[in-house]
Amino acid sequence: MPHILITGCAGFIGSHLTEKLLAEGHQVTGLDNFDPFYAREHKEANLQHAKQNPAFAFVEGDIADQKTWDSLSVKPDAVIHLAAKAGVLPSLKDPSGYLRTNVSGTQLLLEWMRKADCDRLVFGSSSSVYGNTSETPFHEKMDVSRPISNYAFTKVACETLIRTYHELYGLNAVNLRFFTVIGERQRPDLAVNKFVRMIRNGEAVTMYGDGTTARDYTYVGDIVSGIGKALSWILDQDKAFETVNLGNHSPVNLLEMIHTVYRVLGQEPNIEQLPMQKGDVQITYANVEKAGRLFGYEPTTSFEQGVRKFVDWKDQQAKS
Ligand SMILES: NC(=O)c1ccc[n+]([C@@H]2O[C@H](COP(=O)([O-])OP(=O)(O)OC[C@H]3O[C@@H](n4cnc5c(N)ncnc54)[C@H](O)[C@@H]3O)[C@@H](O)[C@H]2O)c1
Repeated sequence: MPHILITGCAGFIGSHLTEKLLAEGHQVTGLDNFDPFYAREHKEANLQHAKQNPAFAFVEGDIADQKTWDSLSVKPDAVIHLAAKAGVLPSLKDPSGYLRTNVSGTQLLLEWMRKADCDRLVFGSSSSVYGNTSETPFHEKMDVSRPISNYAFTKVACETLIRTYHELYGLNAVNLRFFTVIGERQRPDLAVNKFVRMIRNGEAVTMYGDGTTARDYTYVGDIVSGIGKALSWILDQDKAFETVNLGNHSPVNLLEMIHTVYRVLGQEPNIEQLPMQKGDVQITYANVEKAGRLFGYEPTTSFEQGVRKFVDWKDQQAKS
């Protein structure tokens, strides 16, 4: 089985993906620096299961530090690049930090891959590259030259940089645009996790705007299944470059989303309305036809099912 390097392996999506690839028999090297965006203990816990598997090796290091790459002596068949500073709003407060990790870090990775003769890459991009457009559903040929946050800009920049390495050196690459991911181990800053925490603390849920903004929430199991399919596809290609949406093709508006979380928790809604935040787009909505056609991606989990899986996981965590 191929040997895969996963950057950002200790994070929400990366840790699920690491477990999936190990279960399929891959050898996995995981790289992560436990970025303080959220607690290291959560990320350590995310890796607990993988660390018991002898086919897994963990390297602690910063992708934006050349020393990390100079001391990395593995020879993977492909890289899945998920390490990033994630989150839209925090990127407005720390644009240089986002640029350093997301863009310079990706640049250093690409040079390392070139020198290590590793020519297959799957990159974790984002639906935020589409900016604020009312043309829905989003398809991959749409213009992405108008990002409305520093985070979105870094993802557009990385996609373009990866394309440059494809043109220059024949890198086989697929940029996967993930649409708001939900499920077990979800990042604490993201909406479902945040709302469950607020509701259980007895606080009102804060709704930014009038509740009509909508997101194409996608269950993490569907996302990692899509990443796995994209990996199998890229391992079989010769000088390929593609950009592909991984979404759910089923947007849920914010008010409906909040009501679903209350319903799953069996509580009466208590909502505090606040003005819209800068950097937030009105809607995300994926056309997933290309992912289906290219490598058989087919999301199967509804938003409500994803919320239930998250809540069940939270409850289990509280018991253990
Ligand atoms: N979760 C979503 O809804 C979503 C949506 C679109 C795109 N994405 C992208 O998917 C990827 C994974 O997102 P996630 O939600 O799992 O986030 P996450 O924050 O849980 O995981 C990212 C991981 O990268 C690591 N990391 C950060 N900076 C690093 C650095 N300099 N060196 C090494 N490791 C570093 C972090 O410690 C973390 O473990 C990111 O690239 C993110 O931008 C996520």
